[in-house]
Amino acid sequence: MRLFHFLLFFFSFPAFGTDRSAALCEQLFCFPVCLHWYPGSCSQRLPEQCPALLKRAIQCAQSYVIRLWHVRVSAFAQLKISFLFQKKAWHTIKTMVNLPVISPFKKRYSWVQLAGHTGSFKAADSGKILKRFSENEKECFERLMKDPLRSCVPCFHGVVERDGESYIQLDDLLTDFEGPSVMDCKMGIRTYLEEELTKAREKPKLRKDMYKKMIEVDPLAPTAEENAQHAVTKPRYMQWRETISSSANLGFRIEGIKKADGTCNTNFKTTKTQEQVLQVFVEFIEGNTTILKKYLKRLQEINVILESSDFFKRHEVVGSSLLFVHDGSGNANVWLIDFGKTTLLPDGQTLDHRIPWQEGNREDGYLLGLDNLIGILESITER
Ligand SMILES: *[C@@H]1O[C@H](CO)[C@@H](O)[C@H](O)[C@H]1NC(C)=O
Repeated sequence: MRLFHFLLFFFSFPAFGTDRSAALCEQLFCFPVCLHWYPGSCSQRLPEQCPALLKRAIQCAQSYVIRLWHVRVSAFAQLKISFLFQKKAWHTIKTMVNLPVISPFKKRYSWVQLAGHTGSFKAADSGKILKRFSENEKECFERLMKDPLRSCVPCFHGVVERDGESYIQLDDLLTDFEGPSVMDCKMGIRTYLEEELTKAREKPKLRKDMYKKMIEVDPLAPTAEENAQHAVTKPRYMQWRETISSSANLGFRIEGIKKADGTCNTNFKTTKTQEQVLQVFVEFIEGNTTILKKYLKRLQEINVILESSDFFKRHEVVGSSLLFVHDGSGNANVWLIDFGKTTLLPDGQTLDHRIPWQEGNREDGYLLGLDNLIGILESITER
């Protein structure tokens, strides 16, 4: 019977149109691919993420089987060939058809995958997604909802419990897009907190996985000591990532792109110069100036809001991204996402977000990155 389910499921891909089958395939196959591609945040959590990913893939497959049955069941009934199913099987089908059907994952999860932490997200009611609970991020969202920046972040809908775990509920930013292209730009000259640096210094935790990733990109990068240990510390790895990418010099870096056709690319580790970044942007928008101008306008708007935001002044914004989304209808928008590492400063302290970072001043270079991003998009419009 299992084999039969599978075949039924497999051969009915065309019944959903290529778009949906592509979405499904991508969902099933993109997980390991993304994990493989994505450094940093994925591999160290692989053991705990793996079962969750597998479970999600199975859920995804099941939901399509259910849909398929729904279609087939009514078709069979009309054709009066219900003898194909035994009574018991009919019962199973009816029960399963009554289960809530999970809607296609493509829209829901594409930007999440890009951000590289698929395992920490879960399906929610339509138009919303659930992100694994983090006290810090929840508090950030609570403050953001009372700040002018509210219009630049996904709307926060409180904390919910699912299967004994807590999640924060957020608007799915892709709801209004049809076949969206998505880009994730990690903002700031620094991608680790000062606090992480201090901790690593006091109690260095050596990471063999990060050493491996380092020599894959540049065999000459590790020091003699690191070569002897076959390991590096996390801040050292992150600092190195900043210098090989555009983070250190431009104040942002491209983390990943998902095109409308569903292909993901997170291979931008060494995209460093202004010209390289510009090329990636031109490709991303496929040279479309209408979309480019919309992005530019929105970035300028975000810039103005950031300058007026009390939240922004009073937080060290590290590891946060700008999410660019557009589609074939010419719809384009940008949002700030990921506040898991965004930290409230002590009372009375504020940041400039432009002056260079020196250990102790907690500057993150966010506005430096935004200025450069705007400059690059402007230079594309002038070409
Ligand atoms: C840019 O995209 C918009 C919306 O999809 C479309 O109407 C327009 O023709 C495109 N322009 C170019 C130059 O491709």
